[in-house]
Amino acid sequence: MSGTYQFVVVANRLPVDAAEDGGWTRSPGGLVTAVHPIVRRLGGAWVGWTGGADEEAEPFDFDGMHLHPVGLSARDIDRFYEGQSNATIWPLFHDAVEQPVHHREWREAYEAVNRRFADATAALAAEGATVWVHDYQLMLVPAMLREHRPDLRIGFFLHIPFPPVELFMQLPRRADLLRGLLGADLVGFQRPLAAQNFLQLTERLLGLSPKEDRVEVDGRTVTARAFPISIDVDEIEELANDPEVREQARHLRQELGDRRLLLGVDRLDYTKGIEQRLKAFHELLRDGTVTNEEAVLVQVATPSRLRVAQYQQLRDRVELEVGRINGEFGDVGRAPVHYLFQSRDRAELVAMYLAADVMVVSPLRDGMNLVAKEYVAARVDDGGALVLSEFTGAAAELDESFLVNPHDVEDLKRGMCAALAASPQDLAGRMRTMRAVVHEHTVDRWAKEFLDALADVS
Ligand code: ADP
Ligand code: F6P
Repeated sequence: MSGTYQFVVVANRLPVDAAEDGGWTRSPGGLVTAVHPIVRRLGGAWVGWTGGADEEAEPFDFDGMHLHPVGLSARDIDRFYEGQSNATIWPLFHDAVEQPVHHREWREAYEAVNRRFADATAALAAEGATVWVHDYQLMLVPAMLREHRPDLRIGFFLHIPFPPVELFMQLPRRADLLRGLLGADLVGFQRPLAAQNFLQLTERLLGLSPKEDRVEVDGRTVTARAFPISIDVDEIEELANDPEVREQARHLRQELGDRRLLLGVDRLDYTKGIEQRLKAFHELLRDGTVTNEEAVLVQVATPSRLRVAQYQQLRDRVELEVGRINGEFGDVGRAPVHYLFQSRDRAELVAMYLAADVMVVSPLRDGMNLVAKEYVAARVDDGGALVLSEFTGAAAELDESFLVNPHDVEDLKRGMCAALAASPQDLAGRMRTMRAVVHEHTVDRWAKEFLDALADVS
C-alpha cells in the first residue's frame, strides 16, 4: 500500500508536543530546531510521537506540514522511549558517561515501536518517494521500511555521536541495529569518524567489505558520510536585531547589575557537563579568581526525560550544587548562580545570548551542539565569548572559541578565565570568524547536501 507524500520525515517526536491546554508547543531538542524549518519549506509529511501517552491521536495539518502521530502507550513510553532509547542507547552512544542499562523487554518494545513507525511511513509515502529517518530512537526503521517498500529512497541521519567500535560491541543484539541502518541508501553522521566507526562495524560484525565511504549489502550500495548539522541563521539574526529582543537583553543586564554574565543553556542532561560547569564556577569563587560582585552564572536547564532515573539523580545533584554555591557565596538580593529549570521561548533565549559576556558550552560528549552555533549567530554585535568543549561536533567548526576539556575542571576554569580576560578586540576577531562559519554552513545547506547526496546514491 502506498500513499501520496513525495517527501516524508520520520522522527521520534513531531515538531510540536501536545500542550495541557489542548494546543501545541514546540518540542524540545536540536533535532526539531534543525529539521522543522526544512520540512516547513519543502512541505511533506512528518511521522512522529506527540510526546504524550495517546494512542488515538489523529493526523493533522500544521504550519504547511502534514503531521502524522504514531501513538505510544504509557508502557511504550516506559520501555521504548525512557528505557531502550534513553537509558540504553543514549548513554552508550555518548561514550558511556553514564552506565547504559540493558533489559530484554526494552529491546522488544524498541523493535515493536520501530515497526509501527515503519508501517505508518509505508502507508503515507508515494511510489518512489524520499523518506528521511532521524536519530537513535528509530535505527531499525530503514530496514523495516525497505522490506515493504523497496521503491523508496531512504536516508537516515544520526543526530548524536556514533560510538567507537569497542563500545558499540557491548550492545545486546548489536548486529540487528546495524542491519536496521543498512536498510537506508545513505546513512549520515555528524562527524567523519562516526561514519568510519559504522563502516568498520559492518566488516567486524557482518563480514561485509566497506570501501571508502560505501559498503555493498544484499546487492545494494549503502553510503555512509558526515553531514554536520547547523541552525537557521536568519531566524536567530532576525531575533537578535529585533528591538524588543534587544530591549529584553538590556533589561536582563540591568537586573544583574554590572557583573560579568556567564550563561549556560541546555536540556538538563548528564552529557551536557552542567555539573562540571558549576564545579568550575564554584572553584573560581572559592579561589577568589572571581567574586559574587564581579560575575554571575545564569543556567537555563530545560526539563528533559524526567522519569528516567539518571536524569532525576542529575537534577538532584545539580540543584544541591546550586544551593551550595549560593549558600556559600551569595548575599541578600545577589546570588552567584541563577538556575532556571524551565523552557524559555526563542526570543528570550536570544536575548540571553545577546546579554551574555561568556557562553559556557561544556558537554562531556555531544553530536553537534546547536546552542553554541545559536550563540555565535546571535552575536550580530561581534561581542561575547564562547567557551566550548572539545567533545562537541561544533568544536570542529568553531575553533576560534575557547576550547576546553570539561573532564578536566582545571582546564574548564582556565577557559572561563581566558574568556573573561580577553580584550574586546580579540573577542570581536574571534566572533567575526565564527560568524562567517555559521553563515556558510546553515541548516538549509545541511539539508540540501544530504538530500542531494541521497538523490545521487539511490
Ligand atoms: P540537544 O539536541 O541535545 O537538546 P542542542 O544544543 O543541539 O542539544 O539543541 C538544543 C536546542 O534546544 C537548541 O535549539 C536550543 O535553543 C533549544 N533549547 C535548549 N534549551 C532551551 C530552553 N530552556 N528553552 C527553549 N529552548 C531551548
Ligand atoms: O538531538 C538529540 C535529541 O535526542 C533528539 O533526538 C531529541 O528529539 C532531542 O534531543 C530531545 O530529546 P527528547 O526527544 O528525548 O526530549
